Amino acid sequence: MILAGNWKMNKTNEQAKFFVNKLVQDLAGMGFQIVLCPPFVFLSDIAEILKGSNLHLGAQNCYYEKSGAFTGEISPLMLKELGVKYVIIGHSERRHIFGETDEMINKKIKAVLNSGMKPIICIGETKEEREKGLTFCVVESQLRQALFGLNRDDIDQIVIAYEPVWAIGTGIVAKPNQAQEVHKFIRELLEQLYDQESAQKVPILYGGSIKPDNFFGLMVQPDIDGGLVGGASLDDQFIELAKIISGLI
Ligand code: 13P
Repeated sequence: MILAGNWKMNKTNEQAKFFVNKLVQDLAGMGFQIVLCPPFVFLSDIAEILKGSNLHLGAQNCYYEKSGAFTGEISPLMLKELGVKYVIIGHSERRHIFGETDEMINKKIKAVLNSGMKPIICIGETKEEREKGLTFCVVESQLRQALFGLNRDDIDQIVIAYEPVWAIGTGIVAKPNQAQEVHKFIRELLEQLYDQESAQKVPILYGGSIKPDNFFGLMVQPDIDGGLVGGASLDDQFIELAKIISGLI
């Protein structure tokens, strides 16, 4: 199980440090992976606070080149050096607001793996695509392109997050059975592309309007292995979510 908080573009540095100090205390000893993905500029300070704790550091994005003339970008090596373990790649906001393509996402995933970190690969359909019955088609296409050129060893290092775009930041959460059927589909596609053993090992997280009152029903589904949380990762709700997972393992 993994609980990952995607802070997006929120908090000041002081607020971030205060909150992370609290999380380190309140989440101490929880026996599953907890990942905090703050904005880049807070990573260094937060890395210091997390030293010796059971919480892991994640980033929200990165570029796919090692270094060079790429104004405004951050390389995987820079993140690795700070102690980042996970990097969110292909979030729907990156795809839709910043125009990231499946090809760029594939390159970023490879760059993250080559630097010894784990990509959290985000996929998911829009409301319009769901209404047209294209959910599985979109998810399959995004996943196939994201994983293009990855071998079995690479697959052992990845995390997938199914985040239906219509559920992100809308307060409309996917019903547990709706999420489960897509997660099962993703698992089966991984089996088809690799093998059953590898597919079983890949954590598939759900993301989109997770709150303490809808989390349990999602987390008990057989193919849901944790959550990627936006809004509810910014305050004490995150602690509630961690307690829910803790009660399940
Ligand atoms: P919300 O939890 O705010 O809906 O955001 C989900 C998300 O995008 C996590 O990456």
